[in-house]
Amino acid sequence: MAKVTVDGTTFEVEDNKRLVLALEEHGIDILHRCGGIASCTTCRVKFRSGEPTQMTQAERNRLRISGLLGIARLSCQILCQQDMEVEVLMRVSNTEYESAGQRPQPEITPEPKWINRPY
Ligand code: FES
Repeated sequence: MAKVTVDGTTFEVEDNKRLVLALEEHGIDILHRCGGIASCTTCRVKFRSGEPTQMTQAERNRLRISGLLGIARLSCQILCQQDMEVEVLMRVSNTEYESAGQRPQPEITPEPKWINRPY
């Protein structure tokens, strides 16, 4: 089990669960407008600790295109495999969206190709 901390609250998450789903299942209204395919960046989080050293190629590409590489991570592309503390940057309640978006699949999409974090 990994421990995930958000807003000073810590909860346990089963290993290898997608971070975006873990956050949502614990009552956090994180956005995931593209449905978890590394396309929209609305599931972005900022790590305070425990940032994974690997990322999917899709995440790296999207972050680079969006100017977010080294600034934020995409929670739809992260598996809970270690303790981590994150800040959720885009929520239904602090944007103009009426819903979080289509629910992401249980497994990472697109099929992950893992690479080392380039920073
Ligand atoms: S990039 Fe769209 S939900 Fe993660």
